[in-house]
Amino acid sequence: MTIRYLPPAGHKIYWQEIIQAVIKSLLKKYTYKQDLISPESAHDYFFVNSGTSAIYILLKYLKSISNRQDVLIPAYTCPSVVAAIRKANLNPVLCDLNPFDFSLKFEDFINKISDNTLAVLQVELFGILPDNRKLVKQTRIHNSYFIGDAAQSFGNYLLDADLINNRGYDFLIFSFGRGKPLNLLHGGGIISLDQDSRFNEFTENFTAKINSYSILKSIFNTIFYKLFFNPYFYNIPRSLPFLNLGKTIYRSDFEVMSISPYILNLVELIINRNKSIIQYRMRHTNEINSLLEPVKQHLFITDSKDTYDLIRFPILFKDADLRDKILHDLTRNGIGATGLYPFPIDVQPELKILKLEHCENAEFISKSILTLPIHENLTNTDLKKIEKVLYKYLSIN
Ligand SMILES: Cc1ncc(COP(=O)(O)O)c(C=O)c1O
Repeated sequence: MTIRYLPPAGHKIYWQEIIQAVIKSLLKKYTYKQDLISPESAHDYFFVNSGTSAIYILLKYLKSISNRQDVLIPAYTCPSVVAAIRKANLNPVLCDLNPFDFSLKFEDFINKISDNTLAVLQVELFGILPDNRKLVKQTRIHNSYFIGDAAQSFGNYLLDADLINNRGYDFLIFSFGRGKPLNLLHGGGIISLDQDSRFNEFTENFTAKINSYSILKSIFNTIFYKLFFNPYFYNIPRSLPFLNLGKTIYRSDFEVMSISPYILNLVELIINRNKSIIQYRMRHTNEINSLLEPVKQHLFITDSKDTYDLIRFPILFKDADLRDKILHDLTRNGIGATGLYPFPIDVQPELKILKLEHCENAEFISKSILTLPIHENLTNTDLKKIEKVLYKYLSIN
């Protein structure tokens, strides 16, 4: 094991930001409706303690105004999405994905959408923004809601506020959880692009206030994370089994409450230097794109990734066995590569009981995906190591 180990995703947090956010939280009251992400877009915002809670609350709201039961989601995604759907007493319906951008596959989507579809949830995995036009059209025909899960992609919306309005969504979900564009280990929210004022009324009646313990925990977690994002210390949290770093855990018993005011203040501070956080990720995305050029015959090349704010760089190997070997070797070399979620939703152990439909591409993606870190702590030496490992297993064109 190397001493230096690169975290899979994240960004630095500075002491002065933590201290300022604590002081501001003691002085200032937040309404949880601050338009932090894109002040000029002037939509309704609602902040809660996690992205999962945000999906749950949004679905509870939609359920309160409709009798429909189904929520269409990608068959390979974060299992928390399903936890939120189930807690809202709705049915997840799985749709296959396009391997080139991990979005809902239209050919499968048209078979799955029905007049019982309450909402379609498009997950913008890794930060890739898929073309939604055909999906939006069909969703409108069925009078269903179109939700963008931007938990992984809202870095793009911070770069270009117009995007929020132009992607066909009725609602956008975001998260400040582990591994997200702003990685603060707590918080998430909903942006409503719907003109219906009932959403506002619904969220105004939300009374689950955060308690002092959870606020303190959110402060402690960011301090812990600030210390251990350093690649020379990251092996310490990696070796603590109760942190479950790198594991996909399905939790049906998640807590739902308002966001920690400390996290809102921290978001407000970090957003000021968000452009530079994103610039690192974009530069490294370009560098990895070039590095893959000579071996691309072994890969399914995903959409032109150099224009997006990705949170990690996804690679799909044609040969899944090679994925496992490369993942192992990169890990040995201290590169925080991951295999993302190990299962498609239908075979996630806790969800097998639902007997959801198996989807071919979702299965393929789960077996052949690998993600590479692209954050600010990735160095040229790390890139050289990545290149060496990849070229060792993949013959060069
Ligand atoms: C696509 C997606 N949606 C929702 C969530 C849930 O967000 P949170 O971790 O803040 O609950 C995640 C978390 O990883 C995610 O990746």
